[in-house]
Amino acid sequence: MTQQQVYPVNETFKKRALIDRAQYDAMYAESIRDPDAFWGKHGKRLDWMKPYTKVKNTTYDYDNLSIKWYEDGELNAAANCLDRHLEKRGDKTALIFEGDEPSVSRHVSYRELHEEVSKFANVLKSLGVNKGDVVTIYMPMIVETAVAMLACARIGAIHSVVFGGFSPEALGARIENGKSRFVITADEGVRGGRKIPLKANVDKSLEGSNVPAVDSVVVVTRTHADIDWKDGRDVRYEELMKDASSDCPPEPMNAEDPLFMLYTSGSTGTPKGVLHTTGGYLVYTSMTHEYVFDYQENDVYWCTADFGWITGHSYILYGPLVNGATTVIFEGVPNYPDASRFGQVVDKHRINVLYTAPTAVRALMAQGDDCMAGTTRDSLHILGTVGEPINPEAWEWYHRVIGNSNCPIVDTWWQTETGGILITPLPGATDLKPGSATLPFFGIQPAVVDSDGNVLEGKTEGNLVILDSWPGQMRTIFGDHERFKQTYFSTYKGTYFTGDGVRRDEDGYYWITGRVDDVLNVSGHRLGTAEVESALVSHDKVAEAAVVGYPHEIKGQGIYVYVTLVGGAEPTEELRQELVQTVRQEIGPLASPDVIQWAPGLPKTRSGKIMRRILRKIAANEHDQLGDTSTLADPGVVDELIEHRAFQ
Ligand code: WTA
Repeated sequence: MTQQQVYPVNETFKKRALIDRAQYDAMYAESIRDPDAFWGKHGKRLDWMKPYTKVKNTTYDYDNLSIKWYEDGELNAAANCLDRHLEKRGDKTALIFEGDEPSVSRHVSYRELHEEVSKFANVLKSLGVNKGDVVTIYMPMIVETAVAMLACARIGAIHSVVFGGFSPEALGARIENGKSRFVITADEGVRGGRKIPLKANVDKSLEGSNVPAVDSVVVVTRTHADIDWKDGRDVRYEELMKDASSDCPPEPMNAEDPLFMLYTSGSTGTPKGVLHTTGGYLVYTSMTHEYVFDYQENDVYWCTADFGWITGHSYILYGPLVNGATTVIFEGVPNYPDASRFGQVVDKHRINVLYTAPTAVRALMAQGDDCMAGTTRDSLHILGTVGEPINPEAWEWYHRVIGNSNCPIVDTWWQTETGGILITPLPGATDLKPGSATLPFFGIQPAVVDSDGNVLEGKTEGNLVILDSWPGQMRTIFGDHERFKQTYFSTYKGTYFTGDGVRRDEDGYYWITGRVDDVLNVSGHRLGTAEVESALVSHDKVAEAAVVGYPHEIKGQGIYVYVTLVGGAEPTEELRQELVQTVRQEIGPLASPDVIQWAPGLPKTRSGKIMRRILRKIAANEHDQLGDTSTLADPGVVDELIEHRAFQ
């Protein structure tokens, strides 16, 4: 192994940084020693309609599990993102919209955004949306998506954003699970020069017999495409907004009232609606946004995520807007019109912070250093990554080429469930090691446990758990609290189990090694193997399917599928295409299998359980490390699979 490279805190950056290492150490110690005092103090960063008198009321004790923060306080999320900035920052740019086409961009001030959100909040009310109702948002990356989310928050409705890349089937399942009677969409989305038929997808999703009646579908005009119209259900955003009043006082919400839900994949079953509440979530996301990105007034901040993922919720919308920041909404993709786009956008808007996914960095790196030609990126002072482990080569490239060897990189580890960043460097405080998410944020107590749940000390490797609650933590799975307890608190009693593996080095730095459960991370998108398998077996020629991840140079993980056909079915190229199509239809293009191997049989234990460990090794071309196969019902199956291993 080569000598581990360490990047000490950047000297230029140190001069402007909010805090240094000594301050981090002191604040961290305080946050663990007395969480009530620490979070009590930092909760004041928000505007409260009714101040809280209680701060932390949480227990991970399985039978009494309870997570409450600031439980007697009242506030409104939209008021914290908008109203309170009007006096000082009314004319400041809140949102910079950068369109798919480089010629299109638009600035929206805090005052304008406040007005638009208030109007749309009144529109939602006029459609019959009440406090506590679930509103599904299936939108492209445009200003109106932010407006829709904040308008829900303003009246106390729970938004459920569904990524625009999900298929009608996947959308329908989420509308149904959330018992959502309202959908907000656009005629079409535009990404990388291609159109996405969002409204048509909504129409299809609502045809399913299981989906409850939806009262209204609000359609934002993006491309003026010809779309089907269902009178009495479908309404035009622009028409409703024309006459809407901009006077809409924000609804006082209890700190523990739901703010939003967001579906994410687990190792088993259907996607779960992760529920986040109002007070703790806003304290935590705004505070992490400030310290992790060293946010200071007038920084221009760009997170390239999509609103359809948690990163878009916490670090495009809520965290930055609570802090009164200027945040970018990017409609496009890194390589359209060409691979210099990120650099072009950075130069155009003089962006200071760029926060993106390792998969995007790897895709650009594959284009060569020249891909940034013609751009200077000299406004950047911090780079960030999120969503998957970053390999040191990609880290170095990001640092050297995009950051001109002059920007600290914050490799932020967190999850949909955690609401905000848990393990991360702070740019003025933490020496960096490429590939390590480094150290815990304030209030976070990570621990490494072995498979029996014993806490391991010092330099070690095992499963990552968190020992105590933090304000941004999810509170439940929508409609299934028992599953919430089971999934996160039953594996290692008394702790929150992350599902990730981790290594801790001699300096106490954490290195996330990837999921230890049956969750895939493909281009930073989370997918359950069970979901992809259930899509595959919905095809009538498939008897059985097993899905595993394998190392993929750009995507991080690719999807490798083993399929057993029903008797008489022929394994043809045509059928292979059909199966790919089936998965795209059931879930969406993001779940397209990369490799399909026809498998006459699958390795199973005598009790019939598929041995994924073995299938993962075969997919990764590591069949010399299969381990013990003696417990298999039919060990011959393994040789057969190795012999006919598919090419990647
Ligand atoms: C992975 C995204 C390594 C991890 C915010 C986690 C990471 C899952 C990192 C959550 C990172 C996220 N280094 N792995 N910096 N960030 N992950 O819910 O496996 O979409 O459990 O949230 O992504 O994905 P999710």
